[in-house]
Order: sequence, then C-alpha cells, then structure tokens
Amino acid sequence: MMTQPRAAIILAAGLGTRMKSGLPKCMHQVGGRPMLEWSIDLARQVGAESIVTVYGQQSPQIGALGEANGTATALQDPPLGTGHAVQSAQDAMSGFGGNAIVLYGDTPLITAATVEKVFTALEDGASVAVLGFSPDDPAAYGRLVVKDGLLDRIVEFKDASEEERAIGFVNSGVLAAPAPLLFELLGEVTNDNANGEYYLTDVVGLARARGLKAVAVEGDAAEVLGVNSRVDLAEAEASWQRRRRDELMRDGVTMTAPETVFVAHDTQIGPDVILEPNVVFGPGVTVESGAHIHAFSHLEGCVVHGGAVIGPYARLRPGADIGEGAKIGNFVEVKKSTFGKGAKANHLAYIGDATVGSKANIGAGTITCNYDGFGKHQTHIGEGAFIGSNSSLVAPVSIGKGAYTGSGGVVTDNVPDDALALGRAKQVNKEGWAARFRAAMEKRKSES
Ligand code: UD1
Ligand code: CA
Repeated sequence: MMTQPRAAIILAAGLGTRMKSGLPKCMHQVGGRPMLEWSIDLARQVGAESIVTVYGQQSPQIGALGEANGTATALQDPPLGTGHAVQSAQDAMSGFGGNAIVLYGDTPLITAATVEKVFTALEDGASVAVLGFSPDDPAAYGRLVVKDGLLDRIVEFKDASEEERAIGFVNSGVLAAPAPLLFELLGEVTNDNANGEYYLTDVVGLARARGLKAVAVEGDAAEVLGVNSRVDLAEAEASWQRRRRDELMRDGVTMTAPETVFVAHDTQIGPDVILEPNVVFGPGVTVESGAHIHAFSHLEGCVVHGGAVIGPYARLRPGADIGEGAKIGNFVEVKKSTFGKGAKANHLAYIGDATVGSKANIGAGTITCNYDGFGKHQTHIGEGAFIGSNSSLVAPVSIGKGAYTGSGGVVTDNVPDDALALGRAKQVNKEGWAARFRAAMEKRKSES
C-alpha cells in the first residue's frame, strides 16, 4: 500500500522531429486522445497528488493541455536533455517530500500496475527505481547495467562500449526516487557525453556512488513502446486497440471480427452488445446492454440505449440519443436528436436537431431541413407519427402525435395530432397522352 505521497513529472518538451509534424509529438492521439493525457491519467491512477507537465518553447499547446487537465506546468527552455527537463520541474514541486516518478508524454501504453511496481521498489527500500524491459531489438535504448541484482548504472547507446551495447535489458525512461534526493542528484549531473545533454539516467550511477541502492524493475516491452515516429504511433494505436477490445470482450461484448472494430479511450459498451465488423467509435459513446451495431457504422458523441439496432452503414453524430429498442438503419445520419423507445428510421435519412417520439416511423429519404445558412432549427416529431418517404421537414416545425405526412411532402407548417399533412403538388392524370405522344414521335421519325 502507498506509504509515501506520490508525484509525477511528465516529460514532453522534446522536439519530436521524427514525427515530421506541425503538431507537438505528445499532442498526437492514441485511442482518440492526446498521448500526453494518457500519461496524466496514468499518474492519477497511481495516486500522484502532484503532477507537473514539462513542455518546451515550441510546444505551448502541451503546457495548455497539461493545465486543462489540472496539472502544474514547467517550461524547459531550451531543452538540454531529460535530466535538465526534470530539473525544470523543481520549482513546481517545491515543498514536496514524497516519491516522484518520471514519465514520458510519448509512452501511452504503460499500465498503472506496472508503475505501481516501480513505486513499490522504492517503498521496499531502493533509493532509485527504473522500469526496464527486454525488447526483441534493444536498438538505441539506454542499457541497464545490472550487477549482483542491483542496478549499477545506465549507459546511453551512443556512449556505450561494444560490451555494453550487447546488453538486452534497456531503459524505458520511467524512473522514480524520493523527490529531494532526485533533485539533489540532478544537481550533480553534467553534460559530458556524446550528446552534450544532461541525462536523467546519470542519477543511477550518482546514487550508487553514494552507496545508495538502485534497482531495475522489469516491464512488458509492449507497454513501454515510446512513440518517436508515425510508424510507432500506428503501432501504439494497434496495440492499445487490441488491449481494449480484449477487455471489452472479457466484459461481455461480442465482436464478430474484433480486429476491424475501433474504439476510443472513453467508449462505454455494456454486456451483450453485438458489434459486427468495421464499426468505428469516435470519442464520447455509450452503448447500453443488448444493443446491436451492424457492420460499417460510425458512432461519435452519442448514446445507444438497450436493445436498439444500429446500421449497417449508420452514422450517429454528437448528440444522438437512440432510445430503447429504436432502429436506425442503413445510410441514416442522426445528429443532436433524440429517438424515443421503439422509434424507427430504417433507411436513407438525415435527422438533425430533432426529437422523435416513441414508436414514430420515419420513411426512407426523410430529411430534416435544420439549417437556413445562419442558424439551426428544431424539428419535433410526436409519438407514433408516420413520416412518409421522401419528406422534407423544414425546421422549425412540429409534427403532432399520431400524425401522418404524405410521401414526397415539403412540410413547412406544424401538423396537428392525428392529422394528415400533404405538402406536395396535386397529381394530374392526362388520359391517352402517352399514346398520342408516341404516335407523333414515330410519324416525325418516318418523315425524316
Ligand atoms: C531516453 C533515455 C534512454 C531510454 C529512452 C526510452 C535519457 C538520457 N535517455 O532516450 O535511456 O532508453 O529514453 O525511450 O534519458 N525530453 C524533454 N526535454 C529534453 C529531452 C527530452 O522533455 O530536453 C522528453 C521528450 O519529450 C520525451 C522524453 O523526454 O518525452 C524522452 O526524450 P528522448 O529524446 O526521446 O530520449 P531518448 O533519446 O529516446
Ligand atoms: Ca525517445
């Protein structure tokens, strides 16, 4: 159990040049939210009472996002290395005497259970604890030099000897120590190395030189993947999606082709929901127990209540609220609209800024004309109303309970309960017209 107060310093001031992006690296998203927010969330999950986001001169958005998420922020200008980055958080942490952990803003897959192990190592008596891992390819990661079960030092790849480069156990970047000790050791770090940077990793050797105990905790390589390029970003996304889909399936969601379903960080799906192939969730979706989402549907910022049936090929946009047992069929788009229990829009419709009463039926081709080029207007469709195919409902407009609108109508005036609205030209039949027309045309053809 937690014996010392905890703090987290999240490093996100690096340039991230390999992303080749106008956007700071840690703003790029995994699971529909910026990588930085994953790290902040992780810090909260392990009980950090103080969190500092370290950002750079070129990435004010990172500072703003840290603030928006309730963290303290520290500007590191210019960025002179990971050790220097942690030092720049010192003022923001003044007065904090507990254990601090350093996290990166570009490592979105680390779990709370793993970070817990690092803090536990401190609570069990280590002065510095580092999260290491053994990847298939140790690449250019810092090498963890372990002697007699203790971490002796960390050597950056560029500074490592051939022998040290052969070590397969490497540094994830996550490092924890009591905050006062961490800042004290950082005060002794120099930039005398291949990169001319102040390395955070040097605190391990400095602690050892004082006779303090340092340890490396081993984590799962898939979790500590650091994103440096768009290729890494795609890998992190795929890995997170796999993990989250597995959790959802374990919680009772059926997915017929899980590898084709994409969820967001906050997607809530109840048990006994069926997700067919190629269903994509943007942020802010809740699907209640027993709903069925057919193939190729896209949902974002919406609620689907129990037993509702969506798709195939449906689009639910922000503010859609689909009632119990309601049906939204193929090529139907719904935005900022509420569907009551058992209401249906089975084919080819656009319903925006509307309320649809329970058991109402909306025919194919119905469009709510909700926008006049300046403002959005509401359409109200009463319980049990029947909207004829190809109706244009020109908002603001109300259709009463149990009312009908004739097919192909343009409905501009409110319709009383139980009335029939005919908003189309009256049909005229011209007897024998077609036969006369054909005869005239054939005569002209034979004369030419
Ligand atoms: C660092 C570690 C290395 C480890 C690797 C894991 C050091 C010296 N090296 O190397 O041992 O294997 O991470 O991914 O710590 N940052 C700042 N300010 C800076 C420099 C970096 O905020 O001045 C931030 C970056 O935004 C990033 C993180 O620190 O979030 C890591 O920086 P990066 O330059 O990617 O470190 P690596 O060279 O990968
Ligand atoms: Ca890195």
